[in-house]
Amino acid sequence: RRVAILISGGGSNMVALVQSMVGDHPARAVLVLSNNPQATGLAKAAQMGVPTAAVDHRPFGKDRAAFEAEVQAELEKAQADILCLAGFMRILTPGFIAKWEGRILNIHPSLLPKYKGLHTHARAIEAGDAEHGCSVHEVTAELDDGPILGQARVPVLPGDTPETLAARVLPMEHQLYPEVLRRFAVGDRKPVLLP
Ligand code: GRF
Repeated sequence: RRVAILISGGGSNMVALVQSMVGDHPARAVLVLSNNPQATGLAKAAQMGVPTAAVDHRPFGKDRAAFEAEVQAELEKAQADILCLAGFMRILTPGFIAKWEGRILNIHPSLLPKYKGLHTHARAIEAGDAEHGCSVHEVTAELDDGPILGQARVPVLPGDTPETLAARVLPMEHQLYPEVLRRFAVGDRKPVLLP
């Protein structure tokens, strides 16, 4: 399988995914694309020998479809057949997602269906949850809502701040996403539950 990874920033999940696709892994990373030309993840991808592209969303203003047409062109050039969103901070239109339905994954830093959207760590602390974590799900037109393919749980500890909790979740993301992708690449959609 040929995997394209979309990022907006540091791309730590992208790094974990690229590093996992070696040896007898059924997939290879064929492109890392960012909506942010300054995303530091682009240099990390290049250092790992993965082709990169940047499609700055800002010149397109509100014209999401025009931005997505550029993204789609890069994906077709790379002949990608699986799309992994990894710290990608743009909302994709139903039209774009329809082209990728069933072949597009995302990682979200909460135990979905709890805390869709932003500021998930602060919201878990605010709610007094004893547990938090991350989820990998198939992307559908509704934000953070598709079938869940994997979850990793961490404890919320007394005195946790959003930063300390995020720091506990992120390493679990780096374990979960590659494991889900490995199975997804061969059609195995049985949810991965960590630890
Ligand atoms: C992480 O919290 C991830 O859950 C979310 O974006 C944040 C940064 O991810 N999707 P990365 O380091 O850019 O992969």
